[in-house]
Amino acid sequence: MNMFGEARTENVSDAVKLLVIDHQKVERIFSELAASSSVAARQSMCAQLDAELSRHTAVEERVLYPFVRTSISNGQQMIDEAVAEHDEARRLLEQLVTADPSSGEFTAVLEELQRAVDHHVQEEESELFPKLEAEAPADALREMRRVVNGGYTISLISMSSQPAIEISSGIRK
Ligand SMILES: [Fe+2]
Repeated sequence: MNMFGEARTENVSDAVKLLVIDHQKVERIFSELAASSSVAARQSMCAQLDAELSRHTAVEERVLYPFVRTSISNGQQMIDEAVAEHDEARRLLEQLVTADPSSGEFTAVLEELQRAVDHHVQEEESELFPKLEAEAPADALREMRRVVNGGYTISLISMSSQPAIEISSGIRK
């Protein structure tokens, strides 16, 4: 991991570290996608982006968001916004994977999706995660870490054996 990555994860608790690492992975795929011009490379990177966003979104919606809604001040409103942003990302991702990778439409949708995801990541890392860490009791954060970890294990098992279950419940429905 580079210095920027370490700086972003060293001050957060274990409960959200995996989610920040996911954000970095997605940002890396976006830069690789923007830099590549080959249709085959773009298709394979789109598939990676789809899988990463689907898994990450499923964990956030199943574990993090219900916890924030009930445990953090203003949680309801923050999560209503976050869910609307996930829905928008789903719509754009659906458009991206069906667009011709050599078309102008692909580039336009990719830029729009990247802007939407960047905005969402900024909000989570600069508002939601710090608020969670300031307000949630330590034992609740430990419990959330345990459940987040469990969510990742389930996702990985499901994706390797029965991908339809996890992917269909993730960012693409
Ligand atoms: Fe996130």
